Formats: sequence, C-alpha cells, structure tokens
Amino acid sequence: MSGAHQLDERARAAFRQAFGYPPGAVAVAPARINIVGEHTDYNQGFVLPAAIDRHLGVALRLRKDARIILRSDRYAATVDLTELPSRRQGNWADYVVGVADILRQQSSAAMGFEAAIVSDIPVGSGLSSSGALEVAVAVALLAARAEPMAPLQIAQLCQASENGFVGARTGIMDQFTALKARGGNAILLDCRSLEDDYVPLPDGRFAWLLADTRIHHELASSAYNERRAECEAAAKALGLASLRDASEGDLDRIENPVERSRARHVITENARVLQAADALRRRSPKGLGPILYASHESLRLDFAVSCRELDCLVELAAGMPQVIGARMMGGGFGGCALVLLDAAGLDDVEQHLGQGYADEFHRSPEFYRVRSVDGLMSERTR
Ligand code: GLA
Repeated sequence: MSGAHQLDERARAAFRQAFGYPPGAVAVAPARINIVGEHTDYNQGFVLPAAIDRHLGVALRLRKDARIILRSDRYAATVDLTELPSRRQGNWADYVVGVADILRQQSSAAMGFEAAIVSDIPVGSGLSSSGALEVAVAVALLAARAEPMAPLQIAQLCQASENGFVGARTGIMDQFTALKARGGNAILLDCRSLEDDYVPLPDGRFAWLLADTRIHHELASSAYNERRAECEAAAKALGLASLRDASEGDLDRIENPVERSRARHVITENARVLQAADALRRRSPKGLGPILYASHESLRLDFAVSCRELDCLVELAAGMPQVIGARMMGGGFGGCALVLLDAAGLDDVEQHLGQGYADEFHRSPEFYRVRSVDGLMSERTR
C-alpha cells in the first residue's frame, strides 16, 4: 500500500475513533523537496520542487452548526471552537481555521466541521507540513461541500490564508506542489505566469537524502517576512514590480548593500533553476552538483538564511565522493539539507554526516530517504 493510501486509512480510522461515525470526506497531501529555487517564489521567479513520500491526511465531516472540533496525532490538544475565530490563535489550528475562513467568505452556509488530522511529515523541518495541512483541509472541505475548484485556485486560496490569517508572507510553491506534483518528476513552476512544466527526476541509480538538523531557529518566521520586505525594497529601488525582471547588471543601482545582496541571490537563483531544469531534461543529474552548491553559497552569503548546522551538513556532504551536490533547503535557519547522491552510497553518506554532525553539535541529525510521489489524493465518502 502506498504512503498516501496508508495515511488515508489512518485518517478515516482516527476520525471514527474520535467521533464515532465515518467522515464525509478525506484528503491526503504530500510534503515536498525543492531541488533549487529558494526564496524566489514570492519574487515572481522560478522554483523546481517535487512531492515526496511523506503525507498528511485530513478526514472531516461538516456540522449543521458553526462548531469546529479538531483532533490530531501530530499536534497536542484537541481544539474545540464554538465558531470560526476571526483572528489567529497562534497555534497549528490557525492553518485549518484560516482556510475555513476564506471558504466561508465564499459561501453563506455555516462552516462548522469535525476533523481528524494524521501525518508522517516531520514538523518544523522545512518539508512544508503546513502547506500540506492547508491543502488537505481545503480539498476535504470542498469535497464535503461538493464544491469543485481548480487546483490553481485552491493553491492560491491556501496561500492567501497563510499570508493573511496566519501572517507568514510565503509564496505559492508549497501549496502548488502538494496539489499538482507527479511522481518521477519535478515541477518547473514560473511563479509569475503560474505556468508549470514537468521535468524528469534522476533514475533509481541516484537518491535524494534529507539530513534534518532538528534545529528550528526562533527567528525563522520574522526573518522570512523581513527577507521578503528587503526583496520588495530592492525591486522598488530599480523601479520594478518584482525582482523577476532584474538582471545582474542592475545590481549596482541598488544603493542599500543588504538589499543588493538579497537581489543578487534572487537573480542568480532564478538562473540556477533554469539551468537545473535543463540538466534534468538532458538526463544529466551530475550537472546538478555545482548548481546545488552554488545555491547553498548564495543562500548562506547573499540571502543570509543558513546556519552553522546546515553549513556543517553541506560541507560534510561535499567531502564524500558519492555525493553529487547538497544545499540547505526551504526557508532556512534550520530544517533540512538536501543531498543528491549515488544511491549505492546512502549508508556511507548517512554514517559520515551523522558522525561529523554529532562531533560538532553533540546531537544527531535525522535522515529521511525520500522518493517522489504524486500530488493530492481525495475522496468524498458519502
Ligand atoms: C517556505 C515558503 C515557500 C518558499 C520557501 C523558500 O517553504 O512556504 O513559499 O518561499 O520557504 O523558498
């Protein structure tokens, strides 16, 4: 049974156990990796993500009243609300409530529901457990209400909820990937036109390994919004709507040195995404190596979102002959390093990274050997 089917069954069982009857709809959404293209999505640039075999499942049933009851195997505490709160509460339920809030604005019906949420996506590791939660909730609610909606519109709705209700000014990469991914492929997404193209991932001789620092630095969410504001200021200094249209030749015209560095990252990272897509299309996985390392350096120096733990893992990986490339992945300040390697080297590389990291930080990283999978799966059960 696939990971998605397992989570589907677990969500149904958890719902039955919590509420005593079957759910009205179930949706299962995957986590993601991003091969390259970090902090480019909200700059209308390019990203190259793929969904991975870690999932989150939501089973829910609509209520006749406005009450919302949430149970989860991942997050502690039952959430029981007499109605939809109009403001964020500062906990995981915000991701659920924010989506329900936007959907309520589009309909006059009462928006109460009960939901059971199950997941095998590590939280706080930069694999987009929150994007998967938003997408699965949106799809399950829409299915329960028998309201069809196009995937792109669902992704935009979830992003709007995260930006507005939750208050994180993230881009659209995570939600888009959870909805539209295809096993065996990465998605080359143009975050301006929202046009996407599937690009074949390397075959089974190669593997993707995630090395999780198990660190989540406090400043992650405030620094994220700060980086976005710096990018917007840099675009404004150039008289552009976004950094998408900027080129390296423009950099001298950005007076503020911090904004100039941020812009340099975005401009060079966009170029790296296109080069990476090209290497994949040419079936040249080894061509990704220099691109991944260059992305890490750019995120470390120009965008300043890495940390010692991530740098250590990438350096250790770079010292192994079986490794093709490695870089920090996601928003930064902790979470995972992404490593592309010869599949035959998995054990040795894990051993080397685990040992080197423990020597330095007196704790162990967590490893996830991941495989690409399809995007969302859902079913209305009534
Ligand atoms: C988080 C956000 C994404 C993206 C990445 C950085 O995962 O949710 O929209 O900006 O960070 O590339």
